Amino acid sequence: MSLARIAGTGSYLPERVVTNSELEGRIDTSDEWIVSRTGIEARHVAADGELTSDLALQAARKALEAAGRGPGDVDLIIVATTTPDMVFPSTACILQSKLGVQQGAAFDVQAVCTGFIYALSVADRMVATGAHRCALVIGAEVFSRLLDWNDRRTCVLFGDGAGAVVVSRDEAHGILGTHLGADGSLGHILRVTGGIAEGAVRGNPFLEMDGQAVFRTAIRTLGESAQTVLQQTGLRARDIDWFVPHQANARIINALADRVGVPAERVVTTVARHGNTSAASVPLALDTAVRDGRIQAGETLMLQGVGGGMTWGSVLLRY
Ligand code: UT7
Repeated sequence: MSLARIAGTGSYLPERVVTNSELEGRIDTSDEWIVSRTGIEARHVAADGELTSDLALQAARKALEAAGRGPGDVDLIIVATTTPDMVFPSTACILQSKLGVQQGAAFDVQAVCTGFIYALSVADRMVATGAHRCALVIGAEVFSRLLDWNDRRTCVLFGDGAGAVVVSRDEAHGILGTHLGADGSLGHILRVTGGIAEGAVRGNPFLEMDGQAVFRTAIRTLGESAQTVLQQTGLRARDIDWFVPHQANARIINALADRVGVPAERVVTTVARHGNTSAASVPLALDTAVRDGRIQAGETLMLQGVGGGMTWGSVLLRY
């Protein structure tokens, strides 16, 4: 049976860095509080006029280069985002045009911080069956635009960024199993109820969160999801070479690694550098560990995401 394999990774963080000490000067917070509760030291913020598709474009180009592919090879683009450039066309279609891709399909997936895991699961089916040969799967967000920068409970947690992977068919390595979940009855614990249309605010455009409820839900659902995907594939926790979880909070990551049974030195954690970049966080962390040489071909990875919806999911793969 053919598998869908990650053939290249790329990521991009906007130039502007906002450190905890800069936030100390603006709101009633402290570097000590932010680091001890979340592990976050800095986040990146997109420039005025820099759109999700611009971030996605940079990450996509790097992933294509790493995979030894060009725009002429791509026949599927899936962008996971909660912050599309506009209502439509989809950010994937805008990206297709910016990349100069002239064939194939393009669409967005919206599952907030789980978006990349959902998108990768969809791409897995579309590539493994042979329906598409070369997919770009991207998580890209400008979450800074959903934040009330005077609300210390939320604004310190998030940042902007993009991460991308190229997925192609392979006979030996690739995605071994996936598991996705959602519970819409928990929508109220992490949400943005309003929106912005042509510069005018309709309703509340800012992120609202019950942090402790999200924390508990993340640990419970991802712990269960990990067990499900391990059972599905007949693997055990000790078979996981690298655990690449959603980068929201170092405390959640550590608690989860404990629950799944992966030792700390096998966990990829990049949240300190960029905060929670929602759908971009897993591919950003993955790309970091690929480029610094930690993740090697043939190793077994578990990727996991959790976020608004609530949604959650896991992908187990041989890299
Ligand atoms: O993709 C999923 C996205 N969301 C998450 O991953 C969030 C999951 N939740 C969390 O990570 C944690 O719940 C937080 C980091 C958000 C908060 O940590 P906590 O330990 O649950 O703190 P708390 O909400 O219980 O707040 C403790 C105190 C409060 O003060 P009082 O009421 O005890 O006087 C807050 O007002 O900390 C205060 N506080 C802050 N203080 C300084 C909240 N935010 C800040 C801040 N700086 N930025």
